[in-house]
Amino acid sequence: MEYNIVYRDVIDSTNEEVRRLSESGGEQGLVVVAEKQTAGKGRRGRNWDSPEGTNLYFSILLKPNVEPENAPMLTLVMAYSVARVIREQEKLPVQIKWPNDLVLSGRKLCGILTEMHLAGSQIEDVVVGVGINVNTAEFPDDLKDKATSLYMEKTEKADRRLLLNGILEEFQKWYGCFLREQNLSFLLEAYNQMLVNGNREVLVLEPGNEYEAEALGINEQGELLVKKKDGSVENVFAGEVSVRGIYGYV
Ligand code: BTN
Repeated sequence: MEYNIVYRDVIDSTNEEVRRLSESGGEQGLVVVAEKQTAGKGRRGRNWDSPEGTNLYFSILLKPNVEPENAPMLTLVMAYSVARVIREQEKLPVQIKWPNDLVLSGRKLCGILTEMHLAGSQIEDVVVGVGINVNTAEFPDDLKDKATSLYMEKTEKADRRLLLNGILEEFQKWYGCFLREQNLSFLLEAYNQMLVNGNREVLVLEPGNEYEAEALGINEQGELLVKKKDGSVENVFAGEVSVRGIYGYV
């Protein structure tokens, strides 16, 4: 996959822009990066605060030859890639909060929003959007206790371009493995070592079904294995579920 990187000063949402470009013939590997988003999207219909000039907001267009039910694994491939680059380049012990967040000091550093579009029963495209709090010095009151940035952890400004290049390169490698294997066996062990939920009590929020369980780790399908109170083990599918710590965000 060759990347084609497009920069926008201001855009509603890089995920939306990628989707529009995909509809008008954009190819796999198209990346939209923005300085500022006016309607940045989070998961579950939430918005993603996207002030100008401090953070990374980007989305990648993918046209993977995989079954639609395997597409949510791409969120895990991206989370894994970003975590590795931040550990390597920034020397920070970032962890993964399955399926789509990265966490430092118990606070959210990065969120990933994967959106799939189907043509009939086939994947037309998958847009993987990444928001990383890079050089934010202060968060608004409602995010203060939940969010952190690389700058706040290191008190040193990070180079956004270097970070983006590192992530694109890393993702390319693991995306290739994913296409070959059609599962996550290649990252399983290393991913589980970075998992913040590992062996912790979590609250599983499935639509219409909430329960407490102990998170054990992911399997090759990217599902989170959780042990329920009665001892039975469930596989939680990444598609539309969130997990929270029972005492807070992690
Ligand atoms: C979440 O944690 O809820 C996911 C947040 C994803 C935010 C990124 S920022 C770049 C891309 N464009 C968007 O509108 N959202 C994603």
